[in-house]
Amino acid sequence: MKVLIVGSGGREHALAWKLKQSPRVQALYCAPGNAGTAEIAVNVAISVEDITALVAFCKEADIGFVVVGPELPLTLGLVDELAAAGIPAFGPSKEAARLEGSKAFAKDFMKRYGIPTATYGVFNNGQRAEAKAFAKELPGPWVVKADGLAAGKGVLICQSQAETEKAIDYILEEQAFGGAGASLVVEEYLEGQELSLMAFSDGRTVVPMLTAQDHKRIFDGDQGPNTGGMGAYAPAPIGTAALVAQAQKEILEPTVAAMAAEGRPFKGVLYAGLMLTEKGPMVLEYNARFGDPETEVVLPMLDSDLFDIMEACSAGGLARMTIRWKEGSCVTVVMAAAGYPGDIRKGDVISGWQQVPADVTVFHCGTTRNQQGQAETAGGRVLSVTAGNADLQQAVDLAYQGVAALHFEGCQFRRDIAQKALRQR
Ligand SMILES: Nc1ncnc2c1ncn2[C@@H]1O[C@H](COP(=O)(O)OP(=O)(O)O)[C@@H](O)[C@H]1O
Ligand SMILES: [Mg+2]
Repeated sequence: MKVLIVGSGGREHALAWKLKQSPRVQALYCAPGNAGTAEIAVNVAISVEDITALVAFCKEADIGFVVVGPELPLTLGLVDELAAAGIPAFGPSKEAARLEGSKAFAKDFMKRYGIPTATYGVFNNGQRAEAKAFAKELPGPWVVKADGLAAGKGVLICQSQAETEKAIDYILEEQAFGGAGASLVVEEYLEGQELSLMAFSDGRTVVPMLTAQDHKRIFDGDQGPNTGGMGAYAPAPIGTAALVAQAQKEILEPTVAAMAAEGRPFKGVLYAGLMLTEKGPMVLEYNARFGDPETEVVLPMLDSDLFDIMEACSAGGLARMTIRWKEGSCVTVVMAAAGYPGDIRKGDVISGWQQVPADVTVFHCGTTRNQQGQAETAGGRVLSVTAGNADLQQAVDLAYQGVAALHFEGCQFRRDIAQKALRQR
């Protein structure tokens, strides 16, 4: 089988790395890919939002299966277009991807089906006064979210009423997020620990993966601005079997059942961003695809053939599959470019590859190959340095040995990845 992976980050490198291990995958392509995927797949220079070109390439290259990494092509309907061309794919349809593509849709959906989530209201530009009045009724802090995709920047947590009113105007009136902010969600602030719960779904059956926790802030101790994620570990000690069973019953199963009942069955990865509150797990948001960097720690723990699972998600039959996980833990430390998450430095050569311990896996995020064939920095998050071990502390130590070996100008990384999990043990 010839397989195309769409995307160019650490998630897609990890997907390529895991799919490469399947005896059923004969040839692997990645669009557009990065310097890491170039080592194990053929990179194809098509951007993820060029749906027409992606479908045309699949026909031309006789691609038998497509794995869609990022949310943008999903919400643009790539999976639907591929289906129309007779090409099976892993990922939700455009209609199903609305769970991620519209926070207002997701909130209304959860309300309709009694899926636990924060109290909220949805407002457009004509309803700014209503939005502010609604916020006044909520105890602070206040959460204001642009409705559409905003590359992880569309959520504003406000400490005062004044700040909340500014956030509402910023999104609706000033259109800070463009069309993604044509409407917004104002919601109650939930206290607790966050947990990433990703699950495979074939539209009827939903099977949770190992839980993971990521580290969103740029600096140690969860300080500084939000990023795409500076590291992760799996499984998360707070994601106990009892908690996952509760989330399966109260969140994952009702979500998949209701999406099917509404005529938009959800296939692919259903990712519930959970807040573990005193009242139980509540949904902060849905994502319609693998998380990044969660994928870099969850896939190395997967013992089963990923291609078989993905095919079952696409064609149906997930209920008949056994999905096995490895013992132990996996940790990834993200090495980011100078300036990240603001304006970043690019074009620096990455060195130290020979000194990386053999049992460390380096997934590339924002990298490209230069004229000399060397990997160069080309994005905010550059590398995701990953290690697994029976013992979490050993996995952490190993990952940091990999980080110590690698170098590029201005590199920044957190030194406390997985410390939360180590404290909880
Ligand atoms: N209701 C809430 N209560 C507390 N924190 C929240 C709430 N909603 C979002 N957050 C915080 O903001 C982050 C981003 O929000 P999320 O809904 O996941 O949007 P996105 O990932 O699309 O930016 C969450 O990871 C969480 O830390
Ligand atoms: Mg999120």
